[in-house]
Amino acid sequence: MKTMIYAHRGASKLAPENTMPAYQIASESGADGLEIDVQLTKDSIPVLIHDENVRRTTNGTGFVQDYTYDEIKQLDAGSWFSSKFSDCSIITLDYFLRWFKDLPLLLNVELKTNVIEYKRIERIVYDSLKHYQLLDRTVISSFNITSIKKMKIINPSVSTAFLTSTKRRHLPGYAHSHGASSLHIKYRMLDKKIVKQCHKNHMPLRIYTVNRPSWMEKCFKMGCDAIFTDVPHEAVEYRELYKKKQEK
Ligand code: G3P
Ligand code: MG
Repeated sequence: MKTMIYAHRGASKLAPENTMPAYQIASESGADGLEIDVQLTKDSIPVLIHDENVRRTTNGTGFVQDYTYDEIKQLDAGSWFSSKFSDCSIITLDYFLRWFKDLPLLLNVELKTNVIEYKRIERIVYDSLKHYQLLDRTVISSFNITSIKKMKIINPSVSTAFLTSTKRRHLPGYAHSHGASSLHIKYRMLDKKIVKQCHKNHMPLRIYTVNRPSWMEKCFKMGCDAIFTDVPHEAVEYRELYKKKQEK
């Protein structure tokens, strides 16, 4: 089986994470999919940004939820990474999906609800994905199991994933019983037992964030369904090399 490659926050080693240049580069890397992080502004507009606070990845301060979209779009979301990207701004989910819909790629929308439980984010994101007819190639993930449950209530056939970096007994069973159709785990948690449990429960297993070649190879070898990586170009190259090695 082929392990899928998702560009984590875009090609985030080469361009500022969760911005258009990062996704444009990733879309040309040979990766199979893109991962985005979504939070809500004060006026309930879903925007692409990893942290609840804008400090790390923009020239602003304060929380995403305290900015209206008109205010947050004025921030410079690229200079922190390199002066080459000083014209980057925070984009809306709608803007991203309009660009994404014509690409032959998979999508992972991560709802950033583990710190702030944004009101109605599940419904808002679901409606956008439906509007752009993207539900059949999107997996919606969250570290917050309540978000997964809410998504399943909105539409039981939507593909969801429970995200975790914490070991627990019968993790696939736990995730499944809360409505998750797949599991996204931190690379350090990967072992034979979890792969076996996922296969037994018919749950796709995807691993984050896999940047080292040795870890990529481990994921390919263990039959993981996908990896999330900041270096999609490299992952595509290593997957090709791995395949050639197997064919010998
Ligand atoms: O979805 C995989 C990964 O993005 C989860 O962690 O913190 O990079 O959003 P984080
Ligand atoms: Mg993420």
